[in-house]
Amino acid sequence: MDLILASQSSTRRRILSCARIIAKAVSPQIDEENITKSLMAEKAMPRDIADTLAEHKAKKVSIKNPLSWVLGCDQVLDFEGKVFGKPITQEDLKQSLIRLSGTTHRLITANIIYHNTRPMWRHISVSHMTMHSMTITEIEMYVEQSWPEAQHSAGGYYFEKTPHLFSEVRGNWFDIMGLSIGPVVEYLNQHSKVTVFQAPKIAAVLGHPVAHSKSPRMHGHWLETNRISGSYIAIDIPLCRFSETVRVLIGVGIIGFNVTLPYKEDALALADYLTPRAKAIGAANTLIIDLNGLITADNTDGYGFITNLKVNSSDWFPQTGPALVLGAGGASRAVLVSLIEAGCPKIYLTNRTFQRAKDLAFQLSPLIEVIDWEDKERYLPIVTTVVNTTSLGMTGKPPLEIDLSSINLKALVTDLVYTPLDTPLLAQAYSLGCSVVDGIGMLLHQGGPGFEAWFGTRPIVDSEVEALVLK
Ligand code: ATR
Repeated sequence: MDLILASQSSTRRRILSCARIIAKAVSPQIDEENITKSLMAEKAMPRDIADTLAEHKAKKVSIKNPLSWVLGCDQVLDFEGKVFGKPITQEDLKQSLIRLSGTTHRLITANIIYHNTRPMWRHISVSHMTMHSMTITEIEMYVEQSWPEAQHSAGGYYFEKTPHLFSEVRGNWFDIMGLSIGPVVEYLNQHSKVTVFQAPKIAAVLGHPVAHSKSPRMHGHWLETNRISGSYIAIDIPLCRFSETVRVLIGVGIIGFNVTLPYKEDALALADYLTPRAKAIGAANTLIIDLNGLITADNTDGYGFITNLKVNSSDWFPQTGPALVLGAGGASRAVLVSLIEAGCPKIYLTNRTFQRAKDLAFQLSPLIEVIDWEDKERYLPIVTTVVNTTSLGMTGKPPLEIDLSSINLKALVTDLVYTPLDTPLLAQAYSLGCSVVDGIGMLLHQGGPGFEAWFGTRPIVDSEVEALVLK
């Protein structure tokens, strides 16, 4: 099927491509402002305005391409009978947000398919969007920061980037984004003889900040290589808005999340069910949403850690001897729990702040013995695993100062730091003849269980995905 999208919106193009639908995008160039004005003068209903605009776009492109199928889309926002289209000026955006703040409006999405200059199918969806109350200063800040994107969007908000502006949303993610992909796919499947299209699923990584996250690249690669209709995006949620924003995102159909700093504990608190390992670690990095919107919290960091060592060092067995773990922060918890679960008989834990290590050992297991940071080298001859969970040695951070000369040469040394991949700790251990495993594999392997739960396939961790993540 030859499909043309009568829109230049990159979001809509992205939605079609994540449903694996190949479509050419063409700008329909209709006079939206004047058409809307005359429809409003005729007292047209908001849904008719959206539908008519979508139709104008589809028709114009269909006249030039009669043999193609043409998808036209438009959105308007309806608040107490007043129609809001795209804001024309920053002042316009500010005034609309002042009106919408603290209230519920309807976001109307119209999609229409034309073929041979005739309408073949049309669809209207209505989402109910309740905005948090915003102060004038907050609105002004939003306008200032978001104008480049906001000016292209009905009502002037960009839901994908700012779901936290809303306290409640009743609608579907794709409808809100302006392309009702489920119904479009259903229609295309009835009319295309060859391909069976699937409506995409969405998962996301949540954090603050989150722009640095490697997860979208990794999951995006797995979606691509497994030919799965879906998308994985990063959503930055400002402090204090985590749980209610997650509820909004679940409400609009997101099927799962990875959670990164600073929300791993909040994610656990929010869940309806906890896996034993999430409960033991006391934090969640993976949320799985079931069909009723209930949340299962999992923690796959420890799984990622152990799997990375097993895959990369076939003669390493956690049971063979004690481990020395450096650091007692968030990452250390998952390492400690997974080592104990894997049968490690004893762990020496050391941390710059002694009490933090003491508290962790007390919470987790009597098999953990806390030793002084200054004494760490004394334990090197008797351990068979050495793990750095501190941020020391990371690019831009101080080096990890440790003299490995007394190390048991049968010990495996690993570092959670993966920027750089070959940390000074690993380089020193390698030069002495120890086995070493770098930290990138933990990141890759921790992603597997979530991907499988959301998209139904266990992804393959190979050098291709590793290279992509390290790029
Ligand atoms: P993460 O979630 O990545 O583990 P974190 O909870 O902030 O991050 O923990 C960072 C770890 O690196 C802690 O063990 C921290 O030691 P403190 O508990 O004493 O803060 C350790 N760390 C950070 N900077 C350090 C430094 N300069 N010297 C020694 N340890 C350091």
